[in-house]
Amino acid sequence: MASLVSGVILILLSVTGIVSAGGDTTGNVLRLPSEAYKFFRGGDKDEVEGTRWAVLIAGSNGYWNYRHQADVCHAYQLLRKGGLKEENIIVFMYDDIAYNVENPRQGIIINSPHGDDVYKGVPKDYTGEDVTVNNFFAAILGNKSAITGGSGKVVDSGPNDHIFIFYSDHGGPGILGMPTYPFLFADDLIDVLKKKHALGAYKSLVFYLEACESGSIFEGLLPEGLNIYATTASNAVESSWGTYCPGEYPSPPPEYETCLGDLYSVAWMEDSDMHNLRTETLHQQYELVKRRTNNGNSAFGSHVMQFGDIGISRDHLVTYLGTNPANDNFTFVDENSLVPPTKAVNQRDADLVHFWDKYRKAPVGSVRKAEAQKQFLEAMSHRMHIDNSIKLIGKLLFGIERGPEVLSTVRPAGQPLVDDWKCLKKMVRTFETHCGSLSQYGMKHMRSLANICNPGIQTETMAEASAQACVNIPLGHWGSLEKGFSA
Ligand SMILES: *[C@@H]1O[C@H](CO)[C@@H](O)[C@H](O)[C@H]1NC(C)=O
Ligand SMILES: *[C@@H]1O[C@H](CO)[C@@H](O)[C@H](O)[C@H]1NC(C)=O
Repeated sequence: MASLVSGVILILLSVTGIVSAGGDTTGNVLRLPSEAYKFFRGGDKDEVEGTRWAVLIAGSNGYWNYRHQADVCHAYQLLRKGGLKEENIIVFMYDDIAYNVENPRQGIIINSPHGDDVYKGVPKDYTGEDVTVNNFFAAILGNKSAITGGSGKVVDSGPNDHIFIFYSDHGGPGILGMPTYPFLFADDLIDVLKKKHALGAYKSLVFYLEACESGSIFEGLLPEGLNIYATTASNAVESSWGTYCPGEYPSPPPEYETCLGDLYSVAWMEDSDMHNLRTETLHQQYELVKRRTNNGNSAFGSHVMQFGDIGISRDHLVTYLGTNPANDNFTFVDENSLVPPTKAVNQRDADLVHFWDKYRKAPVGSVRKAEAQKQFLEAMSHRMHIDNSIKLIGKLLFGIERGPEVLSTVRPAGQPLVDDWKCLKKMVRTFETHCGSLSQYGMKHMRSLANICNPGIQTETMAEASAQACVNIPLGHWGSLEKGFSA
């Protein structure tokens, strides 16, 4: 009992740590009317050749992950205002937010504190259990026969077309989440992009990725020459950040006990929402988003990265996102014209912030309070179980002294986190067989598992260490054995 109480105190301390910080609130909104672009543009009409396609995906579910689906809905509205057709935008979202019992505005999703509804009109191409790695890949490849369920909409593109992909979710080194299992491994995604290139089915492709350690999805993996330009919310070794969270400034309306957006995602979208995208290049947006997401180099920000064919970033955003005619008179101002947030919440802690805010606001003695406390403690005990198991396995494999050091090794910049992806997938499966699902939180340990592969540890040895380390698996939502993410 004593250890439970001290555990709770520790939890409370760390949660307050998560949500308290100061920051700079200066920042002006600069909107200079000008017709300058008209003198520089060659034609008058839409100058983009080919069709613009987009794939938008939120890789999570659960109300505490509100923000990922809010990001994706917002992206959809932005592209429609930019002139993309519904038939050319493929949306993947679990769709459990708008009508979630926790949602204070039923049927409505917002992506910023004063934002309009972004849910209305979003097509339900792939929802619920149809949001899978397999369908995501098939949609990109334009392979209708490989799709299971959903609307069947795919990127049926040709050689002159432009493709934009936006992914918002949790991630970890070399991995991205999905609301279903298995999760998405970086090597498989890169293979799909190479295949799409080999099909000659696009002129250029832009990938915006919001996730923890998102740099690891492309670093050392995405070659040049595929006509792909990717930017990521963070580098390969850091978290990305939720924003508009309870307790932050600006904060969501008081009835929302969850983060409304993600720092990098709202940075590129709020920038796109107000500018004339005929005059703003991908590179200009990259610089702007980088500055905003860096959050004044505070502990509450991350390093936006770019990968692939950097030359593509000379393209104007209109080539991928279209442009809203209402913004025609706004010119690009090389200034961070958006109000920077003062704080942000680590993606990995956003679930705790939700449970904590729910707990804090629920009346004393209510069922709701007890439920929030249970959710909080379950999430925490799952975290401790996963962290401790990985640590112990490291010590069993490499010795008490060297274990932690080997597991936390980061390979030099430009190298992928692992060479043998089959080995990594096997290590994940072996761990989960003995220790239970890594789940959303456990994605952070992918580098440790990669570092078990890199020195050539055999699966059998890993199985023995895992069996020894994990005598039992905690019960409850997070511990489930069936939900292995490398199923
Ligand atoms: C499409 O998917 C099916 C089923 O997975 C597969 O057999 C086929 O080779 C794929 N076609 C292309 C062009 O990739
Ligand atoms: C842009 O400015 C011009 C000249 O002031 C004006 O005629 C036009 O209506 C404006 N366009 C928009 C979309 O506001």
